[in-house]
Amino acid sequence: MTSQNLASLIEQRKKELNAVILAHFYQPPEIQDLADFVGDSLQLAIQAANTDADVIVFCGVHFMAESAKILNPEKTVLLPVLQAGCPMADMITGEQLRKWKSEHPGYAVVTYVNSSAEVKAESDICCTSANALNVVRSLPAEQPVLFVPDRNLGTWIMNQTGRDMELWPGCCPIHDQLTAEEVKEQIRRYPESIVVVHPEVPPSVAALADAVRSTAGMLKYVQESSAREFIIGTEEGFFHTLKKHCPDKVFHLARTEFLCEDMKKINLEILAQALERQEHQIEVPEDVRQRAAQSLQRMLAIAP
Ligand code: 13P
Ligand code: SF4
Repeated sequence: MTSQNLASLIEQRKKELNAVILAHFYQPPEIQDLADFVGDSLQLAIQAANTDADVIVFCGVHFMAESAKILNPEKTVLLPVLQAGCPMADMITGEQLRKWKSEHPGYAVVTYVNSSAEVKAESDICCTSANALNVVRSLPAEQPVLFVPDRNLGTWIMNQTGRDMELWPGCCPIHDQLTAEEVKEQIRRYPESIVVVHPEVPPSVAALADAVRSTAGMLKYVQESSAREFIIGTEEGFFHTLKKHCPDKVFHLARTEFLCEDMKKINLEILAQALERQEHQIEVPEDVRQRAAQSLQRMLAIAP
């Protein structure tokens, strides 16, 4: 079947089911192009919380679809490829967090949304890379904090807020690979460029950047900047969005390969099949869901 035929099939099935297609910025171009909404983790969580659709088809990774289900227990949430996970989210379990909490009585737990429902259920409040600073600043100054699971995002928050936090030693294996040497090399090659990176990169890289932003924050920064050329430190799928919104600007990847394979497991055929078969339905045990929903709702109550 041609891409055009697949796209009309998806459109038709979407109408029949009253479904909405949400896609992350790292998704393949053909998926971004037919999604109803493309955004970063925070924007997608907000869309999921506010949609009128009966079915949410999440083109992203497992924790994103799970968050949509946590916020919409009465809706059907589909993740077209069940194996599309996030290695960082797997770096801490609910059991490990319970143990860490028991060793730190009186600490508040701030959890990056790149985590499982069980981990969110053990947390006080969630954050994304877009609202992390405001989430941490919303806690009383004297409140000690445990931050999970991304040590790079945690370090960036500590540097920005001047706050001391205990960090779980997790990371995004994709962003964590970026080295200061690679970025310096790109700066040598493209000296006119502005360097914009995601806070999941190591602190030595964040220190070299002109701006550290979530993906939606990067897009806004680039759109508002008078500069023409940028070195971008995040997953390469984001280039599709950048080029679409800023066709006159020039973008260079911060390293030769910047690929999250989990974000690329989907294609039009798989999406059409997911809508046809209504698979794979995400479920979260109700007791876990209710506690995880509280952490997400507290986050959504805070402005980005
Ligand atoms: P955003 O919060 O910018 O969407 O990025 C998080 C990420 O890495 C998605 O997995
Ligand atoms: Fe997870 Fe990193 Fe992939 Fe984002 S880019 S889904 S944090 S592995």
